[in-house]
Amino acid sequence: MKPIISPSILSADFGNLARDIEMINRSEAEWVHIDIMDGVFVPNISFGFPVLKYVAKLSQKPLDVHLMIVQPEKFISEVKALGAHVMNVHYEACTHLHRVIQQIREAGMQPAVTINPATPVSLLKDIINDVYMVLIMSVNPGFGGQKFIEHSLEKVRELRELITLTGSKALIEVDGGVNPDTGKRLLAAGADVLVAGNAVFSAPDPMEAIRALRNL
Ligand code: DX5
Ligand code: ZN
Repeated sequence: MKPIISPSILSADFGNLARDIEMINRSEAEWVHIDIMDGVFVPNISFGFPVLKYVAKLSQKPLDVHLMIVQPEKFISEVKALGAHVMNVHYEACTHLHRVIQQIREAGMQPAVTINPATPVSLLKDIINDVYMVLIMSVNPGFGGQKFIEHSLEKVRELRELITLTGSKALIEVDGGVNPDTGKRLLAAGADVLVAGNAVFSAPDPMEAIRALRNL
């Protein structure tokens, strides 16, 4: 099975956002990855709902929304209003993760849980059967273009084992420092979805970069 590619528009040219989204529309990418940051959960601020309204209008691909914010449950209806396919919330940002996952599902979106590099996969044991996807961060969230943390490969293998053991249908997504080299190794370790920002938007031909990742 070919991997799902979810290009992260954090690395897009914001002066030409419409052009870059139209490129994704024409590409082999399955989803568009949207990174929302609040300057509290992560040391950066990206873009908010007024901008994303236009992204959602232009995108023909399902939105894979990654919230790097505290109390993400406060924004379920805003994310829903974008028509998002997936709403990713951080394990570290949710005191009552089980409730948040249920609320996302009740709102009609696919719930996903994201874990930071220092959060162990084993903590997902009691939620793995309730989520559509787990997102493993392979860099510390907040910025595009960072170096891939090699230990993430071990976490993907561990998560694949947990999914097999529990009979969960959760997809495995990886975000941070994904390029053709790390992407190939992540797929061999058991990843289903690759997020890529820098590797797509700094490539001479972004559409070709997406095609290459999809055909690793
Ligand atoms: C980082 C974001 C990522 C980021 C990935 O906090 O969650 O989605 O855009 O960028 P690259 O692929 O450049 O590491
Ligand atoms: Zn992300």
